[in-house]
Amino acid sequence: LKVGVMGAGAIGSYVGGVLASAGMDLVLVGRPRAKGEFEGSGLNLSDLNGRVLSVSKTRITFATTASALGQCEVVLCCVKSAQTAAAAAEMKGVLAPDVVVVSLQNGVRNPEVLRNALPGRTVLAGIVEFNVVAQGGGAFRRTTSGALLIEATSDARMRVLGDALSQAGIAVKQVVDVRRYQWAKLVVNLNNAIGALSDVPTQELVLSKGYRKILAGTMDEALRVLRVAGIRPGRLGPLPVTLFPYLLRLPTPVLKLAAGAQVKIDPQARSSMWQDLAKGRPTEVDDLNGEIVRLAETHASAGATAPLNRRMVEIVHEAEKRGEGSPKLSAEELWAKLTGEH
Ligand SMILES: NC(=O)c1ccc[n+]([C@@H]2O[C@H](COP(=O)([O-])OP(=O)(O)OC[C@H]3O[C@@H](n4cnc5c(N)ncnc54)[C@H](OP(=O)(O)O)[C@@H]3O)[C@@H](O)[C@H]2O)c1
Repeated sequence: LKVGVMGAGAIGSYVGGVLASAGMDLVLVGRPRAKGEFEGSGLNLSDLNGRVLSVSKTRITFATTASALGQCEVVLCCVKSAQTAAAAAEMKGVLAPDVVVVSLQNGVRNPEVLRNALPGRTVLAGIVEFNVVAQGGGAFRRTTSGALLIEATSDARMRVLGDALSQAGIAVKQVVDVRRYQWAKLVVNLNNAIGALSDVPTQELVLSKGYRKILAGTMDEALRVLRVAGIRPGRLGPLPVTLFPYLLRLPTPVLKLAAGAQVKIDPQARSSMWQDLAKGRPTEVDDLNGEIVRLAETHASAGATAPLNRRMVEIVHEAEKRGEGSPKLSAEELWAKLTGEH
């Protein structure tokens, strides 16, 4: 199977590198900066279970334009949400008519953007449950457990891809009604903004009572909006996301036990929104917390409101504008900014 990756960043390089190590013919499309890193040392992949994979640069074709994707049978779209439309425009005249494009992006809109821009091509939604951190110099570390969910299809090529990934250590599950799982992941992703604004790694964040109170508040609000909108989020791990606000309010030692059953988190885990602020790039906050705000607006007449998520979007945009990385807000400072309460 010839596989392409559009967007050689954290997710694209990690998933692409795992596929190449499993023997797939892989084309990575990324920026010249990423190409330079790749040409220096290939890809070095590690995970929280101590697994290390070195993928030699001779195993992968690295290109800086989408024109290299013409022969690919499956293309994984791994750019940030704000770049999806531009990436799709680049791919439009290039991709084979029978290609399968899989969005491995967060948020709920990217597959639709790709479908509209790539008429006639099959586009599937995917959900990456795990976190990957770019460590520089072609090194990428998977820092949490979790599977890769892909919208169910009868296309045999997706079975080949799924089997290859599963054998190489990324469990792949096909799901029907994928949108429910996208929404569940979006609710989980509400921690991203808190990680970005606090500068606190994910594991520490989950163990901090103050940040947990904020996360529980934004999740509660999001789940209420989803309920009003008639959306039932899918189950990602052993525990349903609808239980998360309740779990987050448990005392830390009890929460530790419950969280351990749901997900393993390496101390190096950081949200991709934190990585964006650190690098001075626009974040995906409009596609995460902002999506809850939009859904609440659509269902305002039924009583849906999202003041915490709305304010979170504003605070993240303020940090983007300042361009100084994370504002390193304590839990108390962030709560005060969100609610006006001191
Ligand atoms: N990182 C995670 O742990 C994680 C987990 C689950 C899901 N996700 C989702 O996966 C998606 C990708 O996230 P990520 O963290 O992997 O982002 P990322 O590290 O920023 O990777 C995207 C890469 O694609 C490049 N790119 C964008 N447009 C391009 C184009 N037209 N041609 C070539 N290269 C292009 C970007 O370069 P520039 O930055 O220079 O534009 C960047 O290097 C997001 O939707 C994210 O929410 C991420």
